[in-house]
Amino acid sequence: MSHHYIKFSHVSYTYPGGVKALDDVSFVITHGEKVALVGTNGAGKSTLMLHTNGLLLPSEGEVVIGDVPVTKKTLPIVRRSVGIVFQDPDDMLFMPTVREDVAFGPLNMNLPPDEVERRVEASLNAVGAADFLDRPSYELSGGQKRSVAIAAVLSMGPDILVLDEPSSNLDPHARRLMMDQIKSFHHTCLIATHNMALVRELCPRTIIMSEGRIVADGLTEKLLNDTQLLDRVGLL
Ligand SMILES: Nc1ncnc2c1ncn2[C@@H]1O[C@H](COP(=O)(O)OP(=O)(O)O)[C@@H](O)[C@H]1O
Ligand SMILES: [Mg+2]
Repeated sequence: MSHHYIKFSHVSYTYPGGVKALDDVSFVITHGEKVALVGTNGAGKSTLMLHTNGLLLPSEGEVVIGDVPVTKKTLPIVRRSVGIVFQDPDDMLFMPTVREDVAFGPLNMNLPPDEVERRVEASLNAVGAADFLDRPSYELSGGQKRSVAIAAVLSMGPDILVLDEPSSNLDPHARRLMMDQIKSFHHTCLIATHNMALVRELCPRTIIMSEGRIVADGLTEKLLNDTQLLDRVGLL
């Protein structure tokens, strides 16, 4: 079976504080699909995404990536195939310079130094952040940090790219580069966003969440024109 396949079966998740953030979530995303995940703040999008690479493990149900069920034991395998760009880039950048932040993943994969260097340059170029190479990550603006965070994930060559609100804080030029980058990523992609223009351009399929549940899953063109549905879930 393909490694680029995400399957959630009856996944529920309750945070230690008692909030039930996912409630019986099931779906399959197959190789090469680009799927948008939309819903109001607090709908459960980020929680769902954190389940794709085992940063959170389900309270009930099962997540499978390719043919690998996500468990504590399989985390190293799963994390090699799923690359997540978090909602807050500050959660991803912690090295003294941009170069080291982007090299961190490839170095951990024990790639040879010249390959690491090649990947760092290629992924920073891809997001238009090559000029930041030797700057401290913490000095960058929010949008610049986000571009570097995306490069840091691309540099690991993931099979599945999971992006949590990738367009927030980006200026139009950086947003265009990011969207072109996603377009040229020929693997599976799951994107949580409030940016409906991005959804329409990049994602033929949309999953709509509300209060921890999937309330619709289908063609973007159809769902985003269903004003009754969008109104009902607070997206109008
Ligand atoms: N670390 C956490 N601890 C407790 N509750 C959380 C935590 N993160 C999120 N939640 C709660 O889980 C629900 C879903 O949140 P989240 O997945 O962040 O939604 P979204 O990304 O769609 O805005 C919300 O009610 C939120 O308050
Ligand atoms: Mg979120």
